[in-house]
Amino acid sequence: MSHIRLERPDDAVAIELLIDRAFGSDRKAKTVYKLRAGNEPIAQLCFVVIDDEGAIVGSIRYWPVIAGGRPALLLGPVSIEPTKQGQGFGKALMHHSLAVARRLGHAAVILVGDPEYYEPFGFRRALAEKLQLPGWVEERRFLGLELATGGLAGASGPVSVPLGAKPRPTHPEAATAPPWPARAAAASRR
Ligand SMILES: CC(C)(COP(=O)(O)OP(=O)(O)OC[C@H]1O[C@@H](n2cnc3c(N)ncnc32)[C@H](O)[C@@H]1OP(=O)(O)O)[C@@H](O)C(=O)NCCC(=O)NCCS
Repeated sequence: MSHIRLERPDDAVAIELLIDRAFGSDRKAKTVYKLRAGNEPIAQLCFVVIDDEGAIVGSIRYWPVIAGGRPALLLGPVSIEPTKQGQGFGKALMHHSLAVARRLGHAAVILVGDPEYYEPFGFRRALAEKLQLPGWVEERRFLGLELATGGLAGASGPVSVPLGAKPRPTHPEAATAPPWPARAAAASRR
């Protein structure tokens, strides 16, 4: 049965190749990669989707950033194996990871992506309007989400990598989260 689990260190190569297939190998020229260089993804918020055959077919990662003076998460990339797109894996990864992020006490998320895909999860252009990324992005694609009320209130100015950013230890609750269909259904009921 397909399920979501935390990313493991030995998944790294398979995930890199998956992201290349989903986004193309020129992806690292994008502005968001400046916020991933010298930074580490947050281990308890990096998930993969495993299909019926045990292969990794999806990945999502989050990075710590300072967004206009407020701690926030940078979401991305979220990538689904091209042959497996449109089957609900992306939505499941989004709902699952955002629910865990909220439970762990994170207050805000930013990303650069298609508003048509991310607005249904609650992302809004207005919440990122006063923030500046370290390079050019298409403005309409730079979005924010508050996981806690006021998570991006007053956030204004540059988005940067926190000094001394380090991955945190795996959260036991996230590690034992149930398979994604149950969790996604629970998240969509909230
Ligand atoms: C975008 C992506 C993560 C979505 O995951 P997925 O498993 O294919 O999507 P899901 O099955 O969960 O959701 C499908 C829905 O999302 C919509 N969708 C998919 N990609 C979209 C996009 N770029 N913009 C708008 N809507 C999109 C589909 O039209 C579909 O809508 P519906 O439910 O109304 O029919 C995946 O297609 C992917 O990896 N794409 C290439 C990399 C990429 O572009 N990632 C970031 C997006 S900015």
